[in-house]
Amino acid sequence: MVKPLYKVSKQLMDVVQGKAYADTVITNGTLVNVVTGELIEGIDVAMKDERIAFIGDASQMIGEATLVVNATGKYIAPGLMDGHMHVESTMFSVTGFSEAAVKKGTTAVFMDPHEMANVFGIEGVKRMHEEGRNAPIHVFTTFPSCVPATDGLEDAGAKISVEDVEEGLMWDGVVGLGEVMNYPGVIHRDEKMIGEIEATLKQGYQPTGHFPEGTIEDLTSYLLSGVTSCHETVTKEAALEKLRFGMTVMIREGSAWQDVKEVIKVITEDQIETDHLMLVTDDIYPETLINQGQINHVVRRAIEEGVDPVTAIKLATLNTARYFKLDDDYGSLTPGKVADIILLDDLTSMDITDVFVKGNQIVKETQLIKETPAFVYPKHYYQSVNVGKVLTAEDFYFNTTHQQSVNINAIEVIENSARTKKKVVELPINNGIVESDLSQDVIKLSCIDRHHKTGQISNQFVTGFHIKRGAVASTVAHDSHNLLVMGVSESDMAVAANYLSDIGGGMVCVLDGEVIASVPLPIAGLMSDLKEADLLRQVEGLKAGWVRLGSPLHAPFMTFSLIALPVIPDIRISNRGLVDVTTFSLIETICSEEC
Ligand SMILES: [Fe+2]
Repeated sequence: MVKPLYKVSKQLMDVVQGKAYADTVITNGTLVNVVTGELIEGIDVAMKDERIAFIGDASQMIGEATLVVNATGKYIAPGLMDGHMHVESTMFSVTGFSEAAVKKGTTAVFMDPHEMANVFGIEGVKRMHEEGRNAPIHVFTTFPSCVPATDGLEDAGAKISVEDVEEGLMWDGVVGLGEVMNYPGVIHRDEKMIGEIEATLKQGYQPTGHFPEGTIEDLTSYLLSGVTSCHETVTKEAALEKLRFGMTVMIREGSAWQDVKEVIKVITEDQIETDHLMLVTDDIYPETLINQGQINHVVRRAIEEGVDPVTAIKLATLNTARYFKLDDDYGSLTPGKVADIILLDDLTSMDITDVFVKGNQIVKETQLIKETPAFVYPKHYYQSVNVGKVLTAEDFYFNTTHQQSVNINAIEVIENSARTKKKVVELPINNGIVESDLSQDVIKLSCIDRHHKTGQISNQFVTGFHIKRGAVASTVAHDSHNLLVMGVSESDMAVAANYLSDIGGGMVCVLDGEVIASVPLPIAGLMSDLKEADLLRQVEGLKAGWVRLGSPLHAPFMTFSLIALPVIPDIRISNRGLVDVTTFSLIETICSEEC
């Protein structure tokens, strides 16, 4: 954490009053002032003891030991802040993510370690939070609120209780409650949800929200609970409705969900006051992070849609800091603020050349110049895949007493959508086993409890991936992150599942008994300990592996990782069986008469 301003006030004044020299001075740039909305040319920024001492002509504050960075022809802007994101989606550890993100101009994130919470509960949240404390950027935590996502339909690795939230809110750097996605629970006054929100409000922190759709009464009830924001808004009209009620709208641009184009119209078409708008990434994949950017990409998208660049930057700096009640220290370049600063050649590309965090230069001419030592997780974080047995092809057979053929409820995935549909298909039976049918693009899909060594397995059928051979598996399986396996060949399915058990989790493609591609994610089965180039190479190899198995889908392993999420309609797999999300109940795989 940074030292409070009052502890360094005298040293900062010494610089301004000619009694000491600055540690670092950035000279002659164009200042992006997000407080006034101005661009001011010919500005120097003098830094001392992690903070900004002076803005203006700082030539008298440069001593022999002062680092001078010439910003002639460049813009000097506040470091960018991402108000809501899940580090686990990037597949990097917090350290690896931070190193990749700071090169894109991100100097602060507000992470919700929801995925880790589903595997290791409060202990996992604490570890990620501790890792964030050592990261090269400011990593604030919003404590996960909805773990597990549902009751009685699946088995996660852990649960989060009101007491856990109360404890987590006491940790230095926890500044809010993570997205309260169980909005029906809040509206129906679920004791746990209300208790978590109450605990957060008592600490003076923000309960962050997740309200995709509902009546005006539902939205109002949600706000009356104390939740203050939402990052699930996908239309201009819904954004306006929320803003008019005082809700902060976090406009999201992630890898899969891209809402800027539509929601930003509240600014470009309706010229709405921007104080309650923020930009966030929510979930971005490694390729997006490395090739397109992090929150700088969202700012870029807002500018592309017609938002004035200074306003767009304000949506990812001052507004973010103000929402989390941290704007006394962060979010603008004014005297006394923490010296989180980015330099850019122009304000439309949002390509960042240099980054300072707490007055220290971390990125110079787009290159990271300071490495952070790896954070060491305890051994059991590398042993989180506990199936309890070695799997064989027989474990993936769907046995039946029916003869010849049978109608079954298959899960149909939709490309580029988190939604699924129920599809009734007739499948052949061979020796008492229901078989896949490639002519209908129907293959096997299994979900195995990987948390409790029960070996519990649910065998189902899926259509839409167009896999024609082999098998794939993943321990990234939102939200419970059980072991998902899918394929044409049961023996390849067993090889894939056993491989991930052996390496501690990740994603894998198997063909004819051989692993043809994999992304090991040994930290809780969710995150890699590799740095960016190595991880990106593995992800690209995995994509090629899926193509080799016959799938033409864009980012199929991401669609795959959502197939066990029993809160998005219509039909999902869990370790307990087939979940009808429209009724929140487990249903039979084999159709009854009414199917
Ligand atoms: Fe989220």
